[in-house]
This record gives sequence, structure tokens and C-alpha cells, in this order.
Amino acid sequence: MFPESSTEYGYEACKATADWLLDQAPVRPLVGIVCGSGLGGLADMLKDQKVFSYSDIPNFPKSTVHGHAGRLVFGTLKGKPCVCMQGRFHLYEGYPIQKITMPMRIFKLMGVETVILTNAAGGLNQDYKVGDVMIIKDHINMPGFAGNNPLCGQNDERFGIRFPCMSDAYDRQMRHLAQEVGAELGYSHFLKEGVYCVLGGPSFETIAECRMLNRLGADAVGMSTVHEVIVARHSGMRVFALSLITNKAVMDYDSEERANHEEVLQTGEQRSQQLVKLVSTIVSRITQPNDI
Ligand code: HPA
Repeated sequence: MFPESSTEYGYEACKATADWLLDQAPVRPLVGIVCGSGLGGLADMLKDQKVFSYSDIPNFPKSTVHGHAGRLVFGTLKGKPCVCMQGRFHLYEGYPIQKITMPMRIFKLMGVETVILTNAAGGLNQDYKVGDVMIIKDHINMPGFAGNNPLCGQNDERFGIRFPCMSDAYDRQMRHLAQEVGAELGYSHFLKEGVYCVLGGPSFETIAECRMLNRLGADAVGMSTVHEVIVARHSGMRVFALSLITNKAVMDYDSEERANHEEVLQTGEQRSQQLVKLVSTIVSRITQPNDI
């Protein structure tokens, strides 16, 4: 009945992997965290860790990007049971989009209720500075416009409905909580809220593309997160996401600036302690979905 459930990323494969992990995990996670480029330090905060290399997890894709460790870490963060992906998968690595988002379904089947995603992104909004942290309030899914959506193919109702709503993808209460925590920690001057646009990558954008995206209403651009958000929301998990602005997207033909991956990693390192503090404090304040 569900042709895809027999594939390497269908329901049965996700269930088998979730059960394999739960058999060995020290906790049953309620919060799932995805660490973006240079932001893997979040996973190091977990207490009583159990670590799995992606290469040892049945059915899991393998991470191929420098700056993405490729480890799944279980443990507690301020007493909350969590699972943390240190390294994620991208469209440009060549996997099918259903494969790169498979970890979200494994999260769901392990009992995760809230997913927190972080990424590195280029700033399109002219008011943004390198080092700003943008709370994502909405997204523009460019690969989706071209028919590359992770929910393409037969829908498996065991995960969710055929046509899920995305107008409330980024949980409003979690965004308020993040603003509140950010203000308490004295981070308001670098905390923004905006729209994230995903592209396929791996080449960075041209100047004309950056100008176009900015005019379309995007504040930041990157190569991840949105596919995971769509799959997480499809299965009813609550989503919160942050972009670290690691570089300013080049919008001016006279500029000598060039986007590069080393700059992305360096900015990640510089802001990472504050990001870890922000996310861990948010996690410590999470209660039940719809009840924070
Ligand atoms: N463009 C796309 N992805 C990115 C960028 C960028 O400028 N910076 C970090 N990830």
C-alpha cells in the first residue's frame, strides 16, 4: 500500500532505526536539536552522553561536509532529555531529499515533540550584521518551487496528512520565548527575526540572485533547514529555528567581498558560546507543546 515504506527511507526503515537507537539510548528524547555549520558545540553541552557515529547507525546517511561532525548525541540538557545531530545532510551532497530529512522522522518515532534547528546563513537584509542571530519566522522554499519538496511521492498517513499547512511552521510561542530569553541574557542587540530562503547550493549566490531574493522578502539565505522543517511539521512536531548570520550576501557589483566557507565556520566559532547559552536556556524553559 505504501511503496515508499519499503525503501531505505520509508516508514519501516525509520522505525527500525528509531528502535535500534532507543534500545541503546540512555534517555527517550523530547527535544531534537540540529546543529548547523560551526555550531556543533551545542551537542557538547549534553550530560550523560551516548554518542553514535552516523556511519554506525543503520539506514542513516553519512555527512560529507567539513565542519559537520556526523554524530548523533543523546543526553540531558538542563535536565531535559535531548538528541542532537552534530552535522546534517544537504541537498547538494547528492542524496534524495527524502533521505536527508529522514532524521526528522526518526526523531518523531523516538518521541521527540520539539525540534530546534540552527544554521549558518548569508544576510540579505541590509540592517543585518555578521554575527547577528535571526529567529526564523517564515521561509521561502526555492527547491520546492521547482518540485523538489521532501513530501513529494506517496504520502504515508502514519506520519501526517497529504497537504500540511506551513503558515504556522515556526512556533509563535517558541519565538516569543527566544526573544524573552535573549533579552534576559543581554543579547537583544544581535537578535533579529526574519524570513529564511533555502537554495540548493553548493555554489553561493550571484549578486543578481541576492538582489532578487532580497526583493522577494528574504532576510537570510542558506542551503538547509527548510526541508527538515517541512518534514518535522508534517509529522506534527513543534519547530523552532535560528540562523547565525555568518556573512553578508554580496549585493553590489563594486564590492570586493566574496562568500566563502571558512568565514562561515569562523563566525560560527565566535558566536557559538552565546548561541549555546541561548539555546540551552530556551530548552530549559520548554514545557509541553502549546503550554509554554
Ligand atoms: N549563502 C548560502 N548559504 C550560506 C551562506 C550564504 O551566503 N552563508 C552561510 N551559508
